Amino acid sequence: MNKLNALPTISPAQERDQDEIRQLARETWYLHYPGIITVKQIDYMLEQRYAPEEIQRLIASPHCNWLKIELEQAIQGFGHFDEDASAHSIKIDKLYVHPRAQGLGCGTSLIRYAETHYGRLGFKKISLQVNKGNLASIAFYLKLGYHKEKSVVFDIGQGLVMDDFIMSKTLY
Ligand SMILES: CC(C)(COP(=O)(O)OP(=O)(O)OC[C@H]1O[C@@H](n2cnc3c(N)ncnc32)[C@H](O)[C@@H]1OP(=O)(O)O)[C@@H](O)C(=O)NCCC(=O)NCCS
Repeated sequence: MNKLNALPTISPAQERDQDEIRQLARETWYLHYPGIITVKQIDYMLEQRYAPEEIQRLIASPHCNWLKIELEQAIQGFGHFDEDASAHSIKIDKLYVHPRAQGLGCGTSLIRYAETHYGRLGFKKISLQVNKGNLASIAFYLKLGYHKEKSVVFDIGQGLVMDDFIMSKTLY
């Protein structure tokens, strides 16, 4: 993909985008996560988090914001942001850019867009969970001003765990 032709657009994901998003998530996970988590865990988590009815539910939810980023007439990535209004905080629940489009600024654009949007709405904090072995993505978040807040291990069933850092940033 040519960096100079790239003018990404960000907009809310629509119900009609769900197949493209699901496919993008599957390709990205199977290319990115082997070596970080097992294929069994990838299968399991994709099934839980990207089942068609789950994507549909989240896109329709008033408490979430599922954004897509498009370049050259195709969705190249997405961010799903979950609002906790009582805590004035936002969780980056999903942030994925397809490997073909990584390094072009799409991930940064999605995060900056959400930070500006939620900052204007009065939200004070944005946080996320990232696998401790996902070193490239940890480096990406550090570069954008996020810090490691704590280490967590969540049992997700079937003998599998999420061994993650929670990272966060204050919004002004
Ligand atoms: C992490 C991710 C969302 C970043 O999106 P992106 O569009 O590739 O990132 P950007 O192009 O905005 O990169 C911004 C900076 O982060 C760094 N960065 C991004 N991806 C990187 C990688 N794979 N390795 C090392 N550094 C990386 C670069 O230094 C870049 O800085 P630069 O502009 O000086 O080159 C994307 O690479 C991705 O989807 N990765 C795989 C899935 C994943 O781990 N998602 C996060 C789950 S918590």
